[in-house]
Amino acid sequence: MNLTLDKLNFGIKNCKKCPLCKSRLNAVPGEGAVNPKIFFLGEAPGINEDRTGKPFVGKSGKYLDELFADIGILRNEVYITSSVKCRPPKNRRPLPNELKICRLNWLDKQLMIINPKLIVMLGKVALLQLTNRTDNLTQVHGEIFTYHSSQCLITFHPASAMRFPKIDILMKQDFQKLKLLLEKLG
Ligand code: URA
Repeated sequence: MNLTLDKLNFGIKNCKKCPLCKSRLNAVPGEGAVNPKIFFLGEAPGINEDRTGKPFVGKSGKYLDELFADIGILRNEVYITSSVKCRPPKNRRPLPNELKICRLNWLDKQLMIINPKLIVMLGKVALLQLTNRTDNLTQVHGEIFTYHSSQCLITFHPASAMRFPKIDILMKQDFQKLKLLLEKLG
């Protein structure tokens, strides 16, 4: 089957495979460049994303845009999505079955189609979703490893960096690592 991102997005927007579909306004497939080098993976849509159907459009998104600007990345050059595509009620953490269903049906296929050179995991849920790892982020942030044919960088979720000044500093350091990685990958 010739699975394109458009077809996948249509599937995501109409998905009824897990209970999150009952409380969402809009599913948020993700968005970005057609052939991006970097794929950013967050946790789950929040209230603004649920309303608009677009990823990272709230406060976390503004913070992310600042981090992009710091290292000379434009939002429309990358792809941004989340570990689950629908907002969990009251912004609770996605449940294991929601993560599993969303990964098998959508995230794995997005990664297969986009095949990014670099995946940046934003936070604990993204790390869990992609690798099943439950490490403490303060210990493993900045780590780089290979996943299929992509290089992966572990960092924090923008929401944590906005709340905790120490995390803000560490996340900015991780983005400097990302800048170097991008320069190396060409
Ligand atoms: N946090 C996420 O992880 N994803 C979004 O789209 C917004 C906030």
